[in-house]
Amino acid sequence: MNKEELKKQVGYKAAEFVQNNTIVGLGTGSTAKYLVEALGKRTKEENLNIVGVATSKRTEEQARSLGITIKNIDEVDHIDLTIDGADEISSDFQGIKGGGAAHFREKTVAINSKQNIWIVDNSKLSNNLGSFPLPLEVIPFGSSHVFNKLKLKNYNPKFRENNNKRVITDQGNYVIDLYLHDIKDPTKLAKELDSITGILEHGLFLNIVNKVIVGYPNGPKIINVR
Ligand code: 5RP
Repeated sequence: MNKEELKKQVGYKAAEFVQNNTIVGLGTGSTAKYLVEALGKRTKEENLNIVGVATSKRTEEQARSLGITIKNIDEVDHIDLTIDGADEISSDFQGIKGGGAAHFREKTVAINSKQNIWIVDNSKLSNNLGSFPLPLEVIPFGSSHVFNKLKLKNYNPKFRENNNKRVITDQGNYVIDLYLHDIKDPTKLAKELDSITGILEHGLFLNIVNKVIVGYPNGPKIINVR
């Protein structure tokens, strides 16, 4: 089974956890894409009635195209379950997200959800966080100063670019990735990044996930975390 098939496997597995008449947070990325596809199928074939809260414009477009009703997060009073991908998950189930530059919306939707499920192929598991660069969404005004501060701290910052142009998020901001390689104390780092003016949100998702579905060639493994 290649990586794409593992992503599909966990996306479709996760869709089975979605119940009728619920409000569902829809993640972003190449794995979450399969979740949305599976939910689109269930909507058509089983008449599944859900309201989706999308974590990006991309996901919103895909979900609408498949006939899933979408509401803005501020139009709903709760979210029952959010299902999303992740870039790295440590052995104590902390995560890095934002590889698709959507972590601000993803975190906002996640922390306002009763339950969170992450779906990943087995390559995303590691002992300690940090092998995946840590994404920060940064407000453009003053961003060069934020960058310099991060550099002085030896956090190896790089503005994220695509075709030599800075990546712009759904909020109109930049992304700075920190190449840290090993994050010894994610809680301490999260607090420090939270305190820097100009960083809208970082990609450390701590104490958030309830269930992880990991794709393996012999089938998905479901891990109940909390
Ligand atoms: C987007 C994210 C994604 O969930 C994360 O990057 C995983 O994506 P993929 O499933 O494509 O590997 O955080 O900001």
